[in-house]
This record gives sequence, structure tokens and C-alpha cells, in this order.
Amino acid sequence: MDLQITRRQQSFIQAEADEVLFGGAAGGGKSYGQLVDAWLYALKYPESKQLALRRTFPDLERSLILTSLGLFSREVAAYNSSQHRWYFVNGSIIEFGYCDNEKDVHRYQGAEYDVIRFDELTHFSEYMYVYLLSRLRGSKPYPRQIKSSTNPGGVGHYWVKARFIDIGAEGVEHKVRDENTGEVSTRVFIPSKLDDNPFLLQGDPGYAKRLNLLPEKERKALREGNWDIFEGQYFEMFRREVHCFEPFAIPASWRRYVAFDYGQDMFAAYFAAIDERENIWVYKEVYKDKLLASEAAELLQSRIDEGEKISAFFAPPDLWNKHSDTGRSTADIFAAKGMGLTRANNDRVQGWYDLAEWLRVYDDEQGAKTAKLKIGSNCLNLLRTLPALQRSERNPNDCAKDPHELTHAPDALRYLVAGRPWAEKPRQESRFAAGARSFMRLGR
Ligand SMILES: Nc1ncnc2c1ncn2[C@@H]1O[C@H](COP(=O)(O)OP(=O)(O)O)[C@@H](O)[C@H]1O
Ligand SMILES: [Mg+2]
Repeated sequence: MDLQITRRQQSFIQAEADEVLFGGAAGGGKSYGQLVDAWLYALKYPESKQLALRRTFPDLERSLILTSLGLFSREVAAYNSSQHRWYFVNGSIIEFGYCDNEKDVHRYQGAEYDVIRFDELTHFSEYMYVYLLSRLRGSKPYPRQIKSSTNPGGVGHYWVKARFIDIGAEGVEHKVRDENTGEVSTRVFIPSKLDDNPFLLQGDPGYAKRLNLLPEKERKALREGNWDIFEGQYFEMFRREVHCFEPFAIPASWRRYVAFDYGQDMFAAYFAAIDERENIWVYKEVYKDKLLASEAAELLQSRIDEGEKISAFFAPPDLWNKHSDTGRSTADIFAAKGMGLTRANNDRVQGWYDLAEWLRVYDDEQGAKTAKLKIGSNCLNLLRTLPALQRSERNPNDCAKDPHELTHAPDALRYLVAGRPWAEKPRQESRFAAGARSFMRLGR
């Protein structure tokens, strides 16, 4: 095979970190670099197994598979198109795969790979990535790595940025402790620029010009490979350093609430406390899938500490619908377990606006950035999904309902603010307003 590679592709191929990201401008040669790297690895390590992924099968077919058919020499490998696998004469395998949705990752449950490659990593969710990390294993003493390539933007922009770009200088290996598992791994980010790829620049001189014509945000992402944009993020103001707090003992005097979203697919509940200045502190998370309403109620109850007084349980109005078989509603089931629910307004757009107000970043008296609503670092799913939530394409004032997996925790938080929680001792409240509030409270 007559191969030439760019300097950046060489850095990607030689990178030894446990997790490598080749990311940046479109056309920098990232996908091509993946294939060359896969090819070299397969030849170097006999009987090695690699998995190369795109989010959907059509994407996979159009990109990696098509390019590999033009690139790989038939002298040492043969392609099986029904299995999407390259079989090498030395016993190595390169398998192409995809995962349309979260559950698709379980297809790879029994599998083992020496190297897993994600192309267009920002199209994947962090869950998919972390799940597939666990499929990295084998009996041979080969280097095991996850190697990814991507443009900025897309549903996974935020977590990919946090995982690879926000950890420190580019091109340098960083030792990072995973917040969820506590495992330490090495990660490196190798930036990719269009100008690094002479093959494309010479073959298609108009390409750079066409990218320059894109609207600013897209141009920044695709032409410059800039990560400091997030096309489509709803809560653009979200900053982990502002909105996230380390858990502490919540003072007994702060009023506490629970807000939750319940569906058969996910039960997402949040405990929140309000301090005297009417800041909301979200301090406990319950996040579990596939629960019956009675199981969800029991789980929630088990997470209420002894003596922990909850002023209200906010839930969306549809939980008052009667189930046709039993004639009881989910609200009835919670009530039977001693948790009388309070109906939270489910006006989506108004609710997101309210939430955005709570999350607005401003300077406190000392000039430090702060916000009225903060989330405990133990609320992993909320911290993961809230910043990843996308704007709806049909109604830019609303959040997208897709990927569905991102919506559960933010919906619960929306019910919390829609429930209009109030503090024990609101500051500077007129007697009239206080009276109106307690009147409303009686009316609930
Ligand atoms: N080393 C190389 N040799 C020949 N062509 C290359 C090389 N690297 C990239 N290319 C070509 O440049 C174009 C862009 O590369 P690609 O890998 O698709 O970029 P990216 O994935 O970063 O958007 C493709 O047509 C690809 O075939
Ligand atoms: Mg590509």
C-alpha cells in the first residue's frame, strides 16, 4: 500500500494515551487517520480485534466503510460485507459498528476489543462511550486504547469537550480521575486543522472557501475546529464552576422540596433546599429506569432521611391521569405511600425560561460569578444532561425532546421551578406578598 500521512495523523497514530481524541476542523484528515491507524495496528498485532463506530449505519456506510474499501489492500485482508468486518491473514479483525440509541450498546455486551474507535464522537452520548470502554479487554499483551475523532458541535459536544479539551493543554497526555468511577486514565487531545491536510487542499482548493462562507458558529466549528461554541445548546449559561457545588450538610432551617419526572423508561427525582436568600441547592438525585410507579414511590421514600421534612413533592400533571386497568393514578400511588403530590405547571417554554432565569450567571457582592440555582456534584445525571440539552429545531424557545435520554433530569428540574418553591424566611418581602403567598399555599 502506498501511504502518505500528515504530521497530525502521525501524532494520532503514535499517541499512547488510554483515550485519544483527534478533533477539530472538518476535512483535517481525522477519519482517514483512523483507518490508516486501524490498518497498521491490525498488521502489527496478529489476531487483534478492533471496533470502529459511527452513530448510525448510513453514516458508517458512507464514510468509514466506503473509504476503507478504497484504502485497504486486498493482499492481506478481505472484507465481509454482511458482517461489516475486515479479516486479515494474520488473524486480525477490524469490525465496523454503530449505535443508534443507548440500548444498542448492549449489542457489544459479550464482545472484547483491543481498540475501539469512535468516529464523530460528539454524535454519541457519554453513556455509550463509557459503556463501550468496558468492552476494552483481551488476553494478548497489546496496547488497549479508545481512539476517537470528531468535529466540534453535535449532541455530545459538551461532554467530549469536558473529557478531552477542558483537562489541559492540547497535545499533552493528562492523567485524569473519572468522577463516576474514580479510575485514573490518561487522555490526550490532538487538534486537527484543515491546513494540516494538503491532500484535501490540493485536491479540492474550493473546500476551504466554501467553509468560510458558513454562518459564524458553524464556520468556527468546522473551519477552525473551535470548541468554544455549542450550536444548539439550550442552557448556554451553564458553567460547571458556577453551577456545581460540593455537597454539604443542608441546614435544617432551609425548606426542602422534591421534584420528579416519572415514566416507565425513567424515574428522575431531585431534592432541593432553599436558603434564606432564595437560592436553590439541588442536593440529592434519584435516577433509575424501568420502575413501576409503586417501585418509584418506594425508592423515593427510601431516599428521604429520617427527620427530613419535604414541604412539597412537585410532579407533572399527567401523573393524575387514571390508569385504565386499576382506575388509580400515579399520584394516587404516591399518595398511598404518604407522599401527596403537588401538580406543577407543565408549560414547557415558560418552564425553560424560568429555569434559565434561575441559572443566569451574575456577580455576587464579592464580584465572583454565581447563580441562584446550584447543583450538587453528586447529581451526576442532572449535571450530564442539563448542559447537553438541545434547542428544539421546530420551536427555538423550547428544548428538543430528542435524544430522549437527555430530557428526564431537566424536566424534573423544570417542575421544581414551575412549582414556585419558596424559602422559609423570604428576604425583603412585603407583608402583602407574604400574605398572598400563604394564601396561595393554602389553595394548593
Ligand atoms: N493521508 C492522506 N492521504 C490521502 N488523502 C487523505 C489523507 N488524509 C486525508 N485525506 C483525504 O482528505 C479528505 C478529508 O479527510 P477526512 O479524513 O475525511 O477528514 P475529517 O474526517 O477530518 O473531516 C478525504 O477526502 C480524505 O480521503
Ligand atoms: Mg470525518
